[in-house]
Amino acid sequence: MKIELGAKNCLYPLPTTLIGALVDGKPNYTTIAHVGIVDPGSVSLGMNKSHYINAGIKTNKTFSVNIPSTKLVKETDYCGLVSGKANDKADLFKTFYGKLKTAPMIDQCSINMECELIKTVDFPNHDIFIGKIIATHCDETVLTEGVVDFEKVQPILFVMNDASYWSLGKKFAKAWSIGKELKK
Ligand SMILES: Cc1cc2nc3c(=O)[nH]c(=O)nc-3n(C[C@H](O)[C@H](O)[C@H](O)COP(=O)(O)O)c2cc1C
Repeated sequence: MKIELGAKNCLYPLPTTLIGALVDGKPNYTTIAHVGIVDPGSVSLGMNKSHYINAGIKTNKTFSVNIPSTKLVKETDYCGLVSGKANDKADLFKTFYGKLKTAPMIDQCSINMECELIKTVDFPNHDIFIGKIIATHCDETVLTEGVVDFEKVQPILFVMNDASYWSLGKKFAKAWSIGKELKK
């Protein structure tokens, strides 16, 4: 028997990211899980308009998407608990810059994508920022034969329903391949 839950969003788990931007010339990092892939080269962020970082993204038209590992769970949670309005969150991390000089990135995160803002969709309570990935930086320790190995990245997965963090499970099948067994 199915139970109707109302209009409950169950599109979880999602990767937990740290979004970086300069606000008033200083790096700020904000925890965002409502991230998406618009097309292979661009990402979307669903960010409440109350966040301090939004103004920095709008002013510079740049931001970074950093993927923290499970080892950074306390720092990641902290960046989602406190606002840059009253706290300097950048001092938690070592910041570096790439091609875009205004997209601060976190050295301790093994993957960093610097993005250029290409569109902002104005929702009642949220800014939906759509960014084009300009360059991706990666620790060589998370590569296997030149490809990002998510078992090594150990991303933090987020589930809203019970406000919990999860770690990645095991790879169990090959995409665009296993289904071939059903081909007639
Ligand atoms: C695990 C986690 C995920 C979050 N995901 C989002 C999100 O997807 N969108 C959003 O608007 N806020 C999200 N937040 C809340 C912001 O990170 C939080 O309000 C933060 O303090 C805002 O920081 P700022 O004011 O320095 O920008 C999340 C918080 C946590 C802990």
